[in-house]
Amino acid sequence: MAKTLDPAAKQAVSDRLRYYRDLGIYDFYTREVSAETLAALGLNAAPAETVETSATAENISATPDETMATPKKAKAPSAATLKILNDRPVALVNIRADLGDCTRCVLHQGRNKIVFGVGNVNADIMFVGEGPGADEDEQGEPFVGRAGQLLNNMISAMGIQREDVYIANVVKCRPPANRTPEREECDTCSPFLMRQIAIVRPKVIVALGATAAKALLLLNDSMANLRGKFYDFTPTLPTDAPEHALELSGIKLAVTYHPAYLLRDPRQKKETWKDLQMVMKYLGMKPPAKSE
Ligand code: URA
Repeated sequence: MAKTLDPAAKQAVSDRLRYYRDLGIYDFYTREVSAETLAALGLNAAPAETVETSATAENISATPDETMATPKKAKAPSAATLKILNDRPVALVNIRADLGDCTRCVLHQGRNKIVFGVGNVNADIMFVGEGPGADEDEQGEPFVGRAGQLLNNMISAMGIQREDVYIANVVKCRPPANRTPEREECDTCSPFLMRQIAIVRPKVIVALGATAAKALLLLNDSMANLRGKFYDFTPTLPTDAPEHALELSGIKLAVTYHPAYLLRDPRQKKETWKDLQMVMKYLGMKPPAKSE
């Protein structure tokens, strides 16, 4: 429902939207929350003006509390729970704020920018890479270098665009000389990735390469064994994370080769395409028709 905003509120909305864009969040959609999810949180399936599910120019408010909807005839969940349920961009902003100017592991020492994640907060598909390289560290956005170009091509081959998916990494800071992140570094950073997954709630996660696969699945196996199938995935959340309140079942995870590996060994592109086709089939997606 459209409301007229006073100039101060308008300015606050505009500042907030700019902040989202800096975080790589561009799209704001309204998506209905299922009756089961609402029931699990002790809420009624209230009309749209009572329970809004995403940020729009109208419902992003100057202070977070103004986004709180009041459920009718239902036990109110905590404010934090409702905020997450209602507003994925805000929830991601909160996770980014919790990450802060992170010094939790040694990777912060060499970093230029923290690379949090980018894309559609309502994406059906989330790609998870290993960690930022030089270009990503400079720009603060994942997969913007050569590997990113190949990832973009992979996404286009699926008939969608980069802006349709969400992209993040296991570690948010560039490892020195692009080395593989250490187990401890992955363990320190992955709670933030798990929280991002809980908020985006993609239908399918595509783990790019062994580091992402190991961090997400806690499996130590060869890429040949890990890829080519779906895993049921539930994010392992920190015990104090508010995202525990969300319904997180039904997420599938597929493993495929990392684009940087494909640049070194293009023969594996065929296998990667098979993995992506498996994802597309599951999601009912058709590749774009070939132009003559
Ligand atoms: N490789 C990754 O794993 N992530 C990036 O963001 C870039 C390259």
